[in-house]
Amino acid sequence: MKEKIYITRKLPASVVKKLEGEFYIEMWGQEEEAIPREVLLEKVKDAQAVLCMLTETIDEEVLDAAPNLKVISNMAVGYNNIDVEAATKRQIIVTNTPGVLTETTADLTFALMMATARRLVEASDYLRTGKWGTWSPMQLTGMDIHGATLGIIGFGRIGQAVAKRAAGFGMNILYYNRSQKPEVEKETGARFAALNDVLRESDFISILLPYSEEVHHLISDKELRLMKKTAILINTARGGIVDEEALYDALKHEMIWAAGLDVFEKEPINPRHPLLTLPNVVTLPHIGSASIATRMKMAELAVDNVYNVLVSAGRVKRVN
Ligand code: DGY
Repeated sequence: MKEKIYITRKLPASVVKKLEGEFYIEMWGQEEEAIPREVLLEKVKDAQAVLCMLTETIDEEVLDAAPNLKVISNMAVGYNNIDVEAATKRQIIVTNTPGVLTETTADLTFALMMATARRLVEASDYLRTGKWGTWSPMQLTGMDIHGATLGIIGFGRIGQAVAKRAAGFGMNILYYNRSQKPEVEKETGARFAALNDVLRESDFISILLPYSEEVHHLISDKELRLMKKTAILINTARGGIVDEEALYDALKHEMIWAAGLDVFEKEPINPRHPLLTLPNVVTLPHIGSASIATRMKMAELAVDNVYNVLVSAGRVKRVN
């Protein structure tokens, strides 16, 4: 009998093709709608592999429902939606899609920095809603990017790719990370610093850490108070790293100047969330890796990961 792979979101047929023939594939038919929990629990019952998105919480309950599971392939670089420890205890391999989305996510991080600093969304709304009466000297003025100090919290692949872009813009770069990266320091002039120094000295603070319990609300009231009054906070990592209530207060009371957010503690964020009422917040619906080419590469890598685990585990014979 063919092994079953369950795919939790509609992926392009050209990508899934690789698995056809050798495996029995079932897929949640919707692209814009996440699979309901009860359907997921039902569908994984007889699956050997699950290819999932960051929208699915793969916890003990799912693992208990899937006694034959050998691999969980997450179509994302972040995998905080999966209980890796529980999966590992059951000898289930967990895979993700690092590397292929680095540059695209760094592009978006930079775009969000610029959009927030130069008030692009506000300016566009200003024009479209007929408020543009005349040019005026201080109209919609923002912050400079060139020559400013960028503090990067989390200096992995994406953090380093952002630093390379920042060097091209003539920014001073500070970074906080578990380990120092001398090669990138040489290339970009980035300087390794303690977290509090990064927070105190930066004009832009870019959060690019992977999420874990350890970094939950790493940026909260105390950290926001350390930042400059003119600081701009950018989060393109995971919402849980920033305490949204504390951020709202800091923005509302002008403790910092603005924020650019692509990720939220709860996604999708409630459209009535207080943060969305503030003019100095630019918000995006978690689109860091959303270029056509990159999303295709992520899907292909997630498919390859399933294939390679099942094949190398010798559970199917390779045909070719
Ligand atoms: C990831 O891959 O973790 C991003 O957040 C979504 O592309």
